[in-house]
Amino acid sequence: MSIKTANDKTISEAASLLKEGGLVAFPTETVYGLGANALDGKAVARIFEAKGRPQFNPLIVHVSDVDQAKELVVFNEWAEIAAHHFWPGPLTLILPRKDDCPVNELVSAGLDTIAVRVPSHPVALKLLKAAGVPVAAPSANISGTLSPTTPAHVSEGLGDKVDMILAAGACDVGLESTVLDLSGNTPVILRPGAITAEELSRVLECDVIVDDGNSDKPKSPGMILKHYAPSIPLRMNAIDLEPGEALLAFGSDQFMGIKGVGAAKDLPEAQRRNLSIEGDLNEAAANLFAMLRALDSPEYNGIAVMAIPDQGLGVAINDRLRRATKGSG
Ligand code: TXA
Ligand code: MG
Repeated sequence: MSIKTANDKTISEAASLLKEGGLVAFPTETVYGLGANALDGKAVARIFEAKGRPQFNPLIVHVSDVDQAKELVVFNEWAEIAAHHFWPGPLTLILPRKDDCPVNELVSAGLDTIAVRVPSHPVALKLLKAAGVPVAAPSANISGTLSPTTPAHVSEGLGDKVDMILAAGACDVGLESTVLDLSGNTPVILRPGAITAEELSRVLECDVIVDDGNSDKPKSPGMILKHYAPSIPLRMNAIDLEPGEALLAFGSDQFMGIKGVGAAKDLPEAQRRNLSIEGDLNEAAANLFAMLRALDSPEYNGIAVMAIPDQGLGVAINDRLRRATKGSG
């Protein structure tokens, strides 16, 4: 890992690293972000691994302008107003994913929505322009520790887990962006930040609800962060298949049997996916949500998932699978 003072040369180096699947910590006006190419599932999986995140929380996708955001998500009238008024700046918008959205499913943890923002820090903007790809970035700290507002914080926490730290002094805001969900019938703040409910309400000319998960008011349906769950039952740690089940394999499935019917390896292509033939947890994390979606079809009785080791990124994969199991069927 290297800490490099941000200038045109180091920003273009950082952009190349991002395009090649590397992890780059970069300054934003709120906190330092741990960035990866949002189109590259393996690179995104490295973010979760580096942070030691026990779950796949959805990440914010950073883009350089409104037009780039519109390539990823569907804008409504509120989004138009909020983006033009507050971007670049510390406001994250949750909007429905476009049908042809190229962002890897791991970024949004399998949800139908994506969080997008245009940061105002000049280094962040230059980096995003130079990289030319959307950049997924949570705060550049180990999960459960404070968000970093200086390059030193980043290197103390993440050390060698990041390929490069682009250094540009302390962040102005020091608090993560306001997260505003515009995917429902009312704008809802999911995380308070520098841009307040009052400001948003004035600009959007409507009520803005604050639901940061701490309120004791009863929550309306749909306001709590949803977890992806398939429409058919999901079964973990499968050692063989029930007839009619689809297979989500991990490692070799050569010896998987279908009870009384034959071998899993003879199933039609569409009924069988492999998270990682080599048993690589990074690759498995990157494939997880897309493959679950591909197998989530009423044609099948359910999805049987082979055991995934409960270590490293496997903890997060199993956590997600467990949640999907509860809500499934
Ligand atoms: O200021 C910031 O926002 C910083 C800098 C680096 O930009 N980033 C940041 O990211 O704080 P992170 O990953 O620590 O926080 C992302 C927040 C989480 O609360 C997550 O649950 C929420 O955004 N989020 C992301 N995608 C979402 C989605 N599709 N639906 C609901 N919430 C979402
Ligand atoms: Mg964070």
